[in-house]
Amino acid sequence: MTITRPAFGTPGWDDALVLRRAVLRTPLGLDFTAADIAAEAGDTLFAAYRDARLIGVVMLRPEGVDSVKLRQMAVAEDMRGQRVGEHLLEAFEAHARALGVRHIGLAARRTAIGFYERQGYAVDSDEFIEVTIPHRHMSKTLR
Ligand SMILES: CC(C)(COP(=O)(O)OP(=O)(O)OC[C@H]1O[C@@H](n2cnc3c(N)ncnc32)[C@H](O)[C@@H]1OP(=O)(O)O)[C@@H](O)C(=O)NCCC(=O)NCCS
Repeated sequence: MTITRPAFGTPGWDDALVLRRAVLRTPLGLDFTAADIAAEAGDTLFAAYRDARLIGVVMLRPEGVDSVKLRQMAVAEDMRGQRVGEHLLEAFEAHARALGVRHIGLAARRTAIGFYERQGYAVDSDEFIEVTIPHRHMSKTLR
């Protein structure tokens, strides 16, 4: 598996948008808006490939001096359970550390909370609804 960081507006970014839509929006009957996509111009995209196929993505959004938001974590359905998500989080955290980030926050779907807990993230909010489904805020402090 290789992990790269395709720039906004490149073919790699567009491929990631197709995977994000298929995993995170279409099953909910939703789609990204033009405003959603425009707001991502300052995000960093991490894309995992196996044999030249894009199999997983996650995005980093700057939030403050030493804080970032982890968002859009998605692994292709037939590639789950093979540590793609774990490797993406490792690459994300290594990059965040290099930027001097101390605090990572995210909105976790109820069904993904166990995944993030295994990687050291802790729930720190009550449940709320986002994209029509239950989420909780989670966070991790980098050492
Ligand atoms: C959640 C998701 C990113 C996990 O990716 P993955 O590549 O399948 O996960 P990994 O293989 O790296 O799993 C690492 C560990 O987490 C566990 N795990 C994976 N998904 C889990 C889940 N949904 N709940 C609890 N534990 C989970 C694995 O069993 C493994 O545990 P182990 O270390 O004890 O063996 C993936 O299932 C996915 O894309 N789901 C749909 C989209 C989604 O919910 N995204 C998150 C939005 S907040």
